[in-house]
Formats: sequence, C-alpha cells, structure tokens
Amino acid sequence: MPISLINDHPAITPALAEALRRDGAKLLHICRIGSGTVTVLLTDDKQVWELNQRFRHQDKPTNVLSFPFADGADPAVQSLGLSELGDIVISVDRAVEEARTADTTLYRRLHWLMIHGLLHLLGYDHQRSPKEARVMESEEERIQQSLLHARRFKMINLAINVDHVATIRQARGINEPDPVTAAAICELAGAGGIVVHLREDRRHIQDRDVRLLRETVKTKLNLEMGAAPEIIKIALEIVPDMVTLVPEKRKELTTEGGLNVVSQKKKLAKTIARMERAGIPVSLFIDPTADQVAAAAEVGATFVELHTGTYAEARQESQRLEELALLATAAEQADQLGLRVNAGHGLNYTNTAAVAGLDFIEELSIGHAIISRAVFTGLEEAVREMQAIIDGASW
Ligand code: PXP
Repeated sequence: MPISLINDHPAITPALAEALRRDGAKLLHICRIGSGTVTVLLTDDKQVWELNQRFRHQDKPTNVLSFPFADGADPAVQSLGLSELGDIVISVDRAVEEARTADTTLYRRLHWLMIHGLLHLLGYDHQRSPKEARVMESEEERIQQSLLHARRFKMINLAINVDHVATIRQARGINEPDPVTAAAICELAGAGGIVVHLREDRRHIQDRDVRLLRETVKTKLNLEMGAAPEIIKIALEIVPDMVTLVPEKRKELTTEGGLNVVSQKKKLAKTIARMERAGIPVSLFIDPTADQVAAAAEVGATFVELHTGTYAEARQESQRLEELALLATAAEQADQLGLRVNAGHGLNYTNTAAVAGLDFIEELSIGHAIISRAVFTGLEEAVREMQAIIDGASW
C-alpha cells in the first residue's frame, strides 16, 4: 500500500481517513513516486510538539513534520511506522484551526499539509533560502494543479431543477411564472441541464411543462419521477434525455431520502430495461452507501445520483465531513462499477463547493437554493453565481 495512514485523532472519522488515504496515493503518483511508500500519522498538537522538540530541537508546536527514511535509524521514529520514503506527522488540531482561519475545509487543509510534508520528504525545504521557498511553493502549486486536473477530468455539469418556479405558478393557478421560460434563462446563463420532477400529485410541474421542455431544452432534459405506471408511460412517450428515479411519498414536502434499490431490485431492473429499450438512460437517486451503489449497478442503471441531503443538513463540522467522505467513497465505488455519478439535494451557495470538488462527480442537480436566490438577484445571476462556485471548486 503506497500510503499507510495512521489515524490517532478523534476529528478524523474512518471514512475521512479512507478518503485521505486514497488522495495520498494519488499524490505519490503525481509526484512520480508511485512505487514509494509513505506513512502519514494524523495526531494531536501535543504529540507533534513532542516530536518537534525531540527530533528537531524546536520547542514549539507545528502543523506538519516530515521524517525522511534516511533519518529513520532512531527507534523512536521507527515506532511511528517507517516506510520507504519516510513519515509525515500532521497535527489535526492545527489543521482544524488553520482551516477555520483560511475559510476552507479540514479535508482541503489536510491535503495541503500532506503535499507540504511530502515535498519535505523529497528534499525540498522552504527554510533554507528564499529561493528554495519559491521553488517549494511552485512545486506545491504544480502538484495541487495536477491533483485538480486528475480530479476534474471534465467540468462538472450544473443541472437546474425548475420545479419551484412551477410551485409559485401553482400557488395562483394561473400561467406565470413559467418553468419553461425559467429553463431557457438557466440555459442562457450557462446551465448544462434542466431537471423537473413530474409528481403523481402534480403539485408543481405539469404534463404540459414536460412536453414543452422536451421541445425547447437545448442542453439535457432530466425527468425526475417515481416508478409509477402512469408516469412511466408519460416518460416513454416524451423520451427525455434521461430519467432519475426517486422514491415519492404523497405527504413529503420534498424527496426525503434515496431509493431503496436493494429491496426492489426486480421491479427497478424491469423499469430500467423498459426505459433503456426506449433509449432513455436511467439514474437512481440513492443514499451514499455501499449496498445501494452495488444494487444500482446490479439492476442496470446508467447513473446514480448520490443523495447529498444528509451532508447538506449536517450541523456539526465533524458530521459534515463524515457525510462528505461517505459521498466520496460511494462516488468512487460507483465509478469502479461502471456507473456514472451525479449528486444533488439540499445543495446551496455554501455547501456545494466541497461536493463539486469530489472525484467522479459528473453533474450536480440543484433547485431550491438557486430559485430562492433568483428572487433577489434574478435567475440569470443566481445561475452564474452557482456556476462560478462549481467551476472554482478544486478539491
Ligand atoms: N435531486 C433530486 C433527486 C431531487 O429530488 C431534488 C429535489 O427535487 C433535487 C436534486 C434538488 O434538490 P434541491 O431543490 O434541494 O436543490
């Protein structure tokens, strides 16, 4: 294993540790040392301070320490778990603090510390001279860009759900605002797709909307729907560019969770086969769990849409990171199984960047936050702002 990650800090959940280990392995590859091995210890301020004092004679805390293998004769260093290239020891306490100050996520800060520590292992040292500091900084930048490129093999598509334009229209039962007009504005502002949910109760989107959108959408029309016979029939008639199957409950305010694919494999496989025969690729809206991803692949879906609702609703930073890591793991698993990966639900102007920075995500489906903002900024501006967040999200 190229990266051996030892997690000795309560802020790092197992799923986050796993995501970091995967990212660390990519870093080695980008640094062209894919055959090397590195041990990364995630620990607290106290232990890093002690190590700094003992091995570098510096009586102060620091964020990251690197111990190249050549230094490893000391058994105390060996007890940290030596590897071919050496060890990187990161203070998670510092990383938490630095992430807060820099207004970034702990996940991103830990990435940067891993890059910094790795370059020290490779002999770079910003403390030797201003020139070396510049060289190291530019190498950090190069690696970050490469990592970015590795992750963003293509731009993430922003698909906008215009249901809530229809919600306002239905509140008056007249013909405005029109979700069809809204869809055109979204596309003019740069959206890469339009999503509508034709619910059985027709609370917002109407059949007429879907038919007109089929004719007018120039990017991609994604019809979100429950697997009810009446709606399946409409989908087969209209032939949207894709459908996303969601669980639908009459009393819910919005979709409340992912589809339970595991418990209805037979039924879903049949629906998917019907859609595929009509040339309609199917996405399954699922929670980011291993069994649902595996079941989605088994029943023949083309896409999964990972439910980001739990991530979006997380109130504690640790829970948010845990949910983000679950999304990262599920996205990777889906990719490995040959599924294409979308994500959505509850994404807004503050929580989208982190999801857009995950590997393997092809498209984000966002509705409520954009339509809400449009009330104040206009729809075009609201779409552009979200697009800028997605385009600017690195990792
Ligand atoms: N994806 C799915 C499957 C949904 O059901 C919804 C809500 O209609 C969304 C994405 C968009 O969620 P939000 O409106 O919270 O952005």
